[in-house]
Amino acid sequence: MSQLSHVNWVDWMERWDRQQAGYLPRRDEQIALMLEIVERVVGHPTGLLDLASGPGSIASRAAERFPDTHLFALDVDPFLLELGRRTRGAAAIEFLEADLRQAGWDEVLPAAGLNAVCTATSLHYLTADQIVSLAVVLANRLPPDGVFVNIDTMRLGEESGPRLDHLAVALREHLWDGDNPVEVEGWQGWWTAARAEPAFATLLAERDRRLISPDPDQAPITLADMTNAFRSAGFAEVGVLAQEADKHTFVAIR
Ligand SMILES: C[S@@+](CC[C@H](N)C(=O)[O-])C[C@H]1O[C@@H](n2cnc3c(N)ncnc32)[C@H](O)[C@@H]1O
Repeated sequence: MSQLSHVNWVDWMERWDRQQAGYLPRRDEQIALMLEIVERVVGHPTGLLDLASGPGSIASRAAERFPDTHLFALDVDPFLLELGRRTRGAAAIEFLEADLRQAGWDEVLPAAGLNAVCTATSLHYLTADQIVSLAVVLANRLPPDGVFVNIDTMRLGEESGPRLDHLAVALREHLWDGDNPVEVEGWQGWWTAARAEPAFATLLAERDRRLISPDPDQAPITLADMTNAFRSAGFAEVGVLAQEADKHTFVAIR
């Protein structure tokens, strides 16, 4: 791991944020809205989990807004967690390693104290069945009135009819193109650059071993999948508070 100390982690972190902003237009604004929603539901949370956090971009922004909140960032990718640990030190975030696809993933969390869970551009990795299991775990982990906020692509699906479903996808791609001049680095470019850094080889080999990328044949998550999962798990209120094409800010109150 000694090679890792020669890496300019802050550069890599900034590069991650720039790259991710291409997939969530006005990302900082959207994360600020997410935290505004959290505050309006629970006030300053006692404990906030940045779920499938990557390097903890939500948790680090939450640290500025909620200085007394106990912050957790949980992900399966050892490389992105290391990137978070090396750059977010000042924010007192606890980085946790777990795979949401595995039963018992939440055992790494504290027994109590969590009342907000936030996630962005992440849950589309999971299948609809895995979302059902996730909602059950979160319903058990969050106290009554606790809040879950997810910003992600959720297809409109059959509920809206095929034309609107496809239109929303086309519109999302159009909006991304508008927000992303060609010189902005995309997902593939970022990972190609990371793989060219010899110091990252061990962490990236472990990332590869964990098969993190979604199965390309997997059906995309729909808004109905998310809504039904959280309602069935026992969340009292479930709804969308912001939407652009098929990107939704989905909120569930326990
Ligand atoms: C596109 S990134 C977004 C990360 C972060 N939310 C952000 O905005 O910077 C998706 C994240 O989901 C994580 N992820 C995907 N599948 C996961 C799983 N099964 N368990 C935990 N994390 C997972 C990936 O490792 C990755 O960090």
